[in-house]
Amino acid sequence: MDVSLLAREPDLRAKAEKAGQGHLFLWWPELGIAEKERLLRQVAHIDFDLLQELVRVLVLDRTKEPLMPLEPAPVVPLPADEKGRRDRQRARQEGEALLRAGKVAPLVAAGGQGTRLGFEGPKGAFPIGPVSKACLFRILAERILAVRRRYGAAVPWYVLTSPTNDRQTRRFFQEQGWFGLPKEDVVFFQQGALPAVDLAGKILLEDKAEVAMSPDGHGGTLPALWKSGVLDDMERRGIEEISYFQVDNVLVPPLDPVFAGCHRLGGAEMSSKVVRKAYPEEKVGVFCLREGKLAVVEYSDLSPEQMHATGPDGTLRYWAGNIAVHMIRVDFVRRLQAENLRLPFHRAEKKIRCIGADGKPVVPDKPNGVKFETFIFDALPLARRSVTLEVSRKEEFSPVKNARGVDSPESAQRDLMELHASWLEDAGVSVPRKPDGSLAFRIEISPLFALDREELKARLRSGFRVDRDLYLSGS
Ligand code: UTP
Repeated sequence: MDVSLLAREPDLRAKAEKAGQGHLFLWWPELGIAEKERLLRQVAHIDFDLLQELVRVLVLDRTKEPLMPLEPAPVVPLPADEKGRRDRQRARQEGEALLRAGKVAPLVAAGGQGTRLGFEGPKGAFPIGPVSKACLFRILAERILAVRRRYGAAVPWYVLTSPTNDRQTRRFFQEQGWFGLPKEDVVFFQQGALPAVDLAGKILLEDKAEVAMSPDGHGGTLPALWKSGVLDDMERRGIEEISYFQVDNVLVPPLDPVFAGCHRLGGAEMSSKVVRKAYPEEKVGVFCLREGKLAVVEYSDLSPEQMHATGPDGTLRYWAGNIAVHMIRVDFVRRLQAENLRLPFHRAEKKIRCIGADGKPVVPDKPNGVKFETFIFDALPLARRSVTLEVSRKEEFSPVKNARGVDSPESAQRDLMELHASWLEDAGVSVPRKPDGSLAFRIEISPLFALDREELKARLRSGFRVDRDLYLSGS
């Protein structure tokens, strides 16, 4: 029994009441000692001042920010001529030197709740390999291993978790033997969490002694870096650049020398990759200049005119879709901390499992609450310089968001198989297809067999045939 915690009950209750959240103690008389302690521990961690402010601005007073005049962001396009190809080659050399020197470390944001996918367990544990059934974490780990071997750089992998999945994630990595990476080179760190509230701003309870907490958004990566001591760890190891990506993009290259090189040659503090939007209403943020500063504007914040606007050549004016892949300088994160620069919170309306006023569980079928999140891309306007690089969607972007349909495991597997099929075709292998053009067999290449199309070409023996489901594995 934690007597000192229990002794704080009147004080914590008063704080909650003052913030209009006294209902957190509604079930107090029914709770056992352990439950009371659990509730008090959570209440003690809530920053009621911040929460009150967020509720006031983002839940109760919903005046929409006026739409800002926008300009398209300057983007380094995909190479279309010899000069473009030479520039990327030059960037590759620069990036490769950085990788060889161990100055770039991969960081995966894996703290989200994966609600839409509805998978029990961390999203990274989802079995996505079309043939191997390897989980997202394994595919990423193998790509990192392959890069470490290619460049002889023992850089660590930083894994962002959240209070809702930290224990499960660490346990999963342990069970999987850290996917072949040295244990000391996988560094977990946790982002913060905030209570979720209902549409009137009242904190939701998951059960009578449990506050419904949710991670503070992928922007939570930045404060987590300095609060957890990971930034010190990076500085100690001589890491200068963070290669940031998210766990649910099955095609993402975790360490891309071309991107690292462009970012570095551009003298940037934070850089981004973009793909061409597939259609005007596609639900991705777009890169724009807002009041002259680079920013990502969410699709829901574009007016219909902005969303459909086209340029003189008839293509979309705001075409550069955000795929949440960034290079971030370690000393930029230090500067944000030192200058007390903080990212703004946004509201995200979600379906949140909770208990109702009668104490019974509620499984909502439409959004019943609000989570407060910061977004990593909101650091872009704070960066002194930035490079925005166009990449090919087919090669680099296919996220797993929903259980079915668009951006689902099925579409991600299809995209991964098509990419690997194109590598095989490039290597002169004929890949059988059905009359509708889809692949006749399932195809998958482990990053430990070949990390990219050039490596595959070099490794395949002549006369290689695909006449059944194919998994090219490596060790
Ligand atoms: P999403 O915003 O798509 O959220 O995160 P999600 O958790 O994957 O799925 P939903 O919205 O609950 O269905 C994009 C990426 O950012 C990470 C996620 O793990 C995912 O890789 N993320 C998101 C965090 O690391 N922390 C967060 O607080 C939110």
